[in-house]
Amino acid sequence: MDNPIHTRFTLPCLGLRAAAAVLLLLLLLSPAAITPVASHNDHGEHKNYLVIVRSRYEYDKNVHKNVSSWHASLLSSVCDTAKEVLEADPTAISRLIYSYRTVVNGFAARMTPEELDKMSKMEWFDRALPEQTFHLLTTRTPHMLGLMGGRRHGGLWNTSNMGEGVIIGILDDGIYAGHPSFDGAGMQPPPAKWKGRCDFNKTVCNNKLIGARSYFESAKWKWKGLRDPVLPIAEGQHGTHTSSTAAGAFVPNASVFGNGLGTAAGMAPRAHIAFYQVCYEDKGCDRDDILAAVDDAIGDGVDILSLSLGHEDAIDFSDDPVSLAGYTAILNGVFICAAAGNTGPSPSTLVNEAPWLLTVGASTTDRRFLASVKLGDNVQIDGESLNDPNTTMGDLVPLVRDVSDGLCVNGNVLKAQNVSGKIIICEAGGDVSTAKAKMLKGIGVVGMIVVTPELFGPVIIPRPHAIPTVQVSNAAGQKIKAYIHKARGPTATFVFKGAAFNTPRSPMVAPFSSRGPNRRSRGILKPDIIGPGVNIIAGVPSIEDVDLLRNAEVPRFDIKSGTSMAAPHLSGIAALIKHAHPTWSPAVIKSALMTTAEPNDNLRKPIQDVNGRPANLVAIGAGHVNPKKAMDPGLVYNMTAMGYVPYLCGLNYTDDKVSTIIYPEPPVSCAKLSRLEQDDLNYPSITVILNQPPFTAKANRSVTNVGAASSTYTVEVNVPASVTVEVNPPKLTFKALEEVLNYSVTIKSANGQALTGPVEGELKWLSGKYVVRSPILVTNESGPSPAETRKP
Ligand SMILES: *[C@@H]1O[C@H](CO)[C@@H](O)[C@H](O)[C@H]1NC(C)=O
Ligand SMILES: *[C@@H]1O[C@H](CO)[C@@H](O)[C@H](O)[C@H]1NC(C)=O
Ligand SMILES: *[C@@H]1O[C@H](CO)[C@@H](O)[C@H](O)[C@H]1NC(C)=O
Ligand SMILES: *[C@@H]1O[C@H](CO)[C@@H](O)[C@H](O)[C@H]1NC(C)=O
Ligand SMILES: *[C@@H]1O[C@H](CO)[C@@H](O)[C@H](O)[C@H]1NC(C)=O
Ligand SMILES: *[C@@H]1O[C@H](CO)[C@@H](O)[C@H](O)[C@H]1NC(C)=O
Ligand SMILES: *[C@@H]1O[C@H](CO)[C@@H](O)[C@H](O)[C@H]1NC(C)=O
Ligand SMILES: *[C@@H]1O[C@H](CO)[C@@H](O)[C@H](O)[C@H]1NC(C)=O
Ligand SMILES: *[C@@H]1O[C@H](CO)[C@@H](O)[C@H](O)[C@H]1NC(C)=O
Ligand SMILES: *[C@@H]1O[C@H](CO)[C@@H](O)[C@H](O)[C@H]1NC(C)=O
Ligand SMILES: *[C@@H]1O[C@H](CO)[C@@H](O)[C@H](O)[C@H]1NC(C)=O
Repeated sequence: MDNPIHTRFTLPCLGLRAAAAVLLLLLLLSPAAITPVASHNDHGEHKNYLVIVRSRYEYDKNVHKNVSSWHASLLSSVCDTAKEVLEADPTAISRLIYSYRTVVNGFAARMTPEELDKMSKMEWFDRALPEQTFHLLTTRTPHMLGLMGGRRHGGLWNTSNMGEGVIIGILDDGIYAGHPSFDGAGMQPPPAKWKGRCDFNKTVCNNKLIGARSYFESAKWKWKGLRDPVLPIAEGQHGTHTSSTAAGAFVPNASVFGNGLGTAAGMAPRAHIAFYQVCYEDKGCDRDDILAAVDDAIGDGVDILSLSLGHEDAIDFSDDPVSLAGYTAILNGVFICAAAGNTGPSPSTLVNEAPWLLTVGASTTDRRFLASVKLGDNVQIDGESLNDPNTTMGDLVPLVRDVSDGLCVNGNVLKAQNVSGKIIICEAGGDVSTAKAKMLKGIGVVGMIVVTPELFGPVIIPRPHAIPTVQVSNAAGQKIKAYIHKARGPTATFVFKGAAFNTPRSPMVAPFSSRGPNRRSRGILKPDIIGPGVNIIAGVPSIEDVDLLRNAEVPRFDIKSGTSMAAPHLSGIAALIKHAHPTWSPAVIKSALMTTAEPNDNLRKPIQDVNGRPANLVAIGAGHVNPKKAMDPGLVYNMTAMGYVPYLCGLNYTDDKVSTIIYPEPPVSCAKLSRLEQDDLNYPSITVILNQPPFTAKANRSVTNVGAASSTYTVEVNVPASVTVEVNPPKLTFKALEEVLNYSVTIKSANGQALTGPVEGELKWLSGKYVVRSPILVTNESGPSPAETRKP
């Protein structure tokens, strides 16, 4: 990064345009330096920082024209020349990258270490965070996700609710506006409150895609070659998929290579989409661009925000853009969904953990793309395939394995004379499987069997390939390999059967879906909920990796997998709830989704993990979304945005950090407030920490009646014998809608001793008509201090 030329010459604190001119001049004078410097988009030692201003410093309307001129003055105060330069040339592009209005009290700027040092001594300075990259949460190897649409959730749609008038803001990598999923035909114009824009190519927006803006002012400094402006129109493998999953219009005759789904549609087919490009293919998403996009989205008037992105670490709530932006969202009545991450099944891998977010894990669906491997001994082994079900393979052909590493990536070992005209079995991994298929096609292989890693259990994630391919579970792969081993001349052929909706057990937790416990707040269960995120079919600009199909006619749909795909399902469903109940707060919508979520699968048995055991609460949260029930939950756990303040104080966050999170609410002093324990936050799930004698904990809750005016609920608790649970009162009698009643839950270790591990159960309020369910997690460890400070 550091080029010697810059150590000799530190740019003064002036506008970028002027800086560029100085640099250019220098280059002309010293030709030897041209190559290395020209290869850097970055101007020397200047780096991007998010600067957070201390909470009591606010923009004074009497002194500054607007917030950005205030931020510019703060920035210029660290170097005298800046003022002069700015006065002399007010058009000079300032080193201010973004000036934030609501998401955070601060700005993004480019500075040298010396300037940062100088700035850190300023009275108004709180802290500066170096640039940080976030990532989209689609699984890398086989993209999979997105089908659903009409068939599965069709029961929810009726002529009066398809999300009309609700605006879903999506932050992602781009949107292919020409896709039929974003056709504006039959859509009403956006509601009057909409203030957003269509920045790139105005002709692409319509009554479906009502806004499209691009954020790369920060990203452009670290990633060379971002076009200016970056037009998301023809890009966006990921963003086109997530947007069409949330709110894609009805598209008849959609299919992936003949694996038909009939009419495709998003969860809220009549909701409006406002698209904010913050991520760039193969690079990532810059934190400061994310903050700027949410700042604008909230000002534009979105109702729901969908973020299928996150960092690899669980970041302190006061440093994490999803958390900071999410708080501002709920403060403005905007519901926010965020993906949980794709680094499961290991524990403590979850991201986007703040309690004001709906954190969404991924599950399998009931659809499979059936195909079998028929072996020479007449045994049929089932798997999945995206080949056109009309593909015919014909007679048995020789079946071989890659005798090197089994991955089928080594072209030096795999020779045409050994594999031509044969079917080969390959382990997944080593390379993108589509690239393998291309290589194998080149040496005459006629079919590929891909063996899924053991970690995936029964979950198979098929991809379209250049040659006929059947993907099988690890167990099935072992059977095929055993056959090859013992048969004299092993042979096989494929039978393709197409899409089927008869998965023996579904939903199941996706193997990759990130798991809790919550690393930043052990007393709040995360994820909150799971939704479809495996082998999801939705719109894409083109099918990736399959060259020969690039020119296939639109509409194009593809299969992707990830918590990235689950989050927009929940965003779309939230839009339907918002349409049905326009006055419901983000906390009420979240409560409705969680207390009606389904803990059981299609066999009415507990949802399984891929290891065949019942999934833990840290994998599924409240369970699998049930959109129909979420419309009418009976009771809800409501919260105001400011209701999180005593909780943050209880986590021992400093006043400055709490104030950073809740900005633009005025700064608070925790000393003057009552602190709330995590277990007393009015959350729709119940978590208590029993880590010290007397191993007793109490959790308070308030429920609001949104069901029947006059109704009585009685409590039912199911927990293992190692704990006892007492609910007081055990009966709640409501006389009116909107009435709020309180109850408390006392949880004890049954033998008065320390627990030997986490204990899971549930609490249900039953009225005859309604079941209002909260999972109960009793954990024996408090985890690291949530307010632990990372020094920037
Ligand atoms: C803020 O004021 C400056 C200086 O007058 C002006 O150049 C800039 O456009 C204003 N910004 C906004 C967002 O209004
Ligand atoms: C449609 O849904 C709304 C809200 O969920 C409900 O009030 C209405 O009765 C439904 N209409 C029909 C025809 O099912
Ligand atoms: C804007 O989009 C339309 C439709 O996609 C296209 O025909 C036109 O060339 C685009 N204009 C620009 C300036 O990119
Ligand atoms: C969908 O396919 C059916 C049967 O192949 C055809 O009759 C119909 O016209 C198609 N619809 C559209 C909109 O292409
Ligand atoms: C597959 O074959 C059936 C029956 O011949 C035909 O109706 C269908 O359209 C074919 N599907 C594709 C995708 O070609
Ligand atoms: C490939 O075939 C050649 C000739 O048919 C044979 O000598 C060689 O052992 C084979 N290699 C492998 C790896 O099977
Ligand atoms: C939830 O709380 C907010 C803020 O106090 C209130 O405006 C709203 O009416 C409440 N929602 C319900 C369903 O009671
Ligand atoms: C906050 O600090 C107090 C006092 O040091 C401590 O007892 C408590 O456990 C801390 N809370 C959390 C959630 O770490
Ligand atoms: C919890 O509820 C009890 C009454 O049930 C009350 O005495 C106590 O103060 C409450 N605690 C909190 C933190 O609200
Ligand atoms: C219920 O709890 C809330 C918050 O803890 C409290 O403000 C309210 O006074 C309680 N209501 C009753 C009836 O106890
Ligand atoms: C909590 O339970 C785990 C087993 O899940 C055990 O390893 C750990 O020591 C326990 N911690 C405490 C503080 O008892």
